[in-house]
Amino acid sequence: MEIRNTPAFSFPLPFSLSGNHLDAYEKKVGALGASYLHPIPSELQEKIAYRVVSIPAPTPAVAGTLNFGVTYLHPYTVEGEYSFTRGHFHADKNYDEYYFGLSGEGFLLYWDGKDEVFAEKVFPGSVHYINGKYAHRLINTHPDDIMAVGACWNVLAGHDYETIDRGGFPVRCFNVGNQPVWKEDKQ
Ligand SMILES: [Fe+2]
Repeated sequence: MEIRNTPAFSFPLPFSLSGNHLDAYEKKVGALGASYLHPIPSELQEKIAYRVVSIPAPTPAVAGTLNFGVTYLHPYTVEGEYSFTRGHFHADKNYDEYYFGLSGEGFLLYWDGKDEVFAEKVFPGSVHYINGKYAHRLINTHPDDIMAVGACWNVLAGHDYETIDRGGFPVRCFNVGNQPVWKEDKQ
């Protein structure tokens, strides 16, 4: 598993996106059941896996209109597998995206849909430029802390969740002795 260097900046922390007129949605762990290697235990089914808070993009959208949001990924494991976001490709792979770590720690997993798969460490102040050709997924490796990650992307990028829902990513990340261990996943 290749871990590439992560550029970083700094800014006042802690960070929280709050205010009026924000959009928000929550994903429960049970809704991610098919994405984990092992079945979701009943006590986790109704827990919040992650919450996404975003600033509604200006309307009408034009070619350059941007979305901005923050994902709060909760810490839990499923038979040792760290919590993660569903992950997606962009519907239009010409559109790139910025992610930036705000709090907590974990990984950003990239996959080109073929043989190239790698991750970058995510931490407060980390900056991640996501080329639109890569599917991307966040993984929270902290035992207790919520991982907060900001994102900025073009409204025209769109989301292709179905490709990941069908076959997942080629690797999974597990807590083994309080260390992240990557394991290949059969496609
Ligand atoms: Fe994206």
